[in-house]
Amino acid sequence: MKLDLLLTPFPLDQINLNDKTVVVIDILRASTTICASLQAGARGVIPVGEPGGAGKLWTRLGADSAVLAGERDGVKIENFQCGNSPAEFTPESVGGKNVILCTTNGTGIFNRASRAARVVSGALVNISELARRVVVWGNDVVVVCAGRNGGFSVEDTLCGGMLIDLLNQSEVSGVELNDAGALAKLLYKGMGASLRKTVANGEHGRFLVSVGMGSDIDLCTAVDSMPIVPVLDDGCLVIAESEPKKQHSVR
Ligand code: MLT
Repeated sequence: MKLDLLLTPFPLDQINLNDKTVVVIDILRASTTICASLQAGARGVIPVGEPGGAGKLWTRLGADSAVLAGERDGVKIENFQCGNSPAEFTPESVGGKNVILCTTNGTGIFNRASRAARVVSGALVNISELARRVVVWGNDVVVVCAGRNGGFSVEDTLCGGMLIDLLNQSEVSGVELNDAGALAKLLYKGMGASLRKTVANGEHGRFLVSVGMGSDIDLCTAVDSMPIVPVLDDGCLVIAESEPKKQHSVR
């Protein structure tokens, strides 16, 4: 299996995604919120890049079937029903509805990758189940770290490194990594024992604390707390159907 990790989404449009599984990672907080929404019983999560487009879609779908959610500068967008804190997505707030989610860095990436064989959302909360599925699917992988404002972020790269580590422990006979993947693996080897602290000390972690959302860091670093894999299906992220377990463990 080949795995190319992108430290930022910048090169994504230039990359051949034929027959690839794309894993979009934005652990603070879009990928975690997507898992939280589906785990809370949302029918699906529709990732949208811009608030205007999200608002129009919500008007078209109607308040009975859709919830409008998202952030700019970390805080809920005016007139939206939810922000981007995983804690807001409960059976009461989103059960049975589609969540239209618009965030600064993460949600716009999914549709940019939609030419791939499969696009999934990866986070620490679903990392082992994600690794298991990647092995079952068997395709080469492109991991896109959402990063922050176009740049590198430590938390997404760390999560990419953990995915690589889990794949290496699986039956896959060697994962062939690009240089960024090798770097992510090294980062995880060095800092994986202090995941929460490393995430909290990063730029985005410190930013969330500064806007009073530090408790989200605990939710976003709760490894394997939401063992589902959101997969893009016609523009909407839904829980991937279960597949036969292989006779090995990745964790
Ligand atoms: C993003 O997509 O930029 C993030 O999820 C930002 C955040 O809400 O922390």
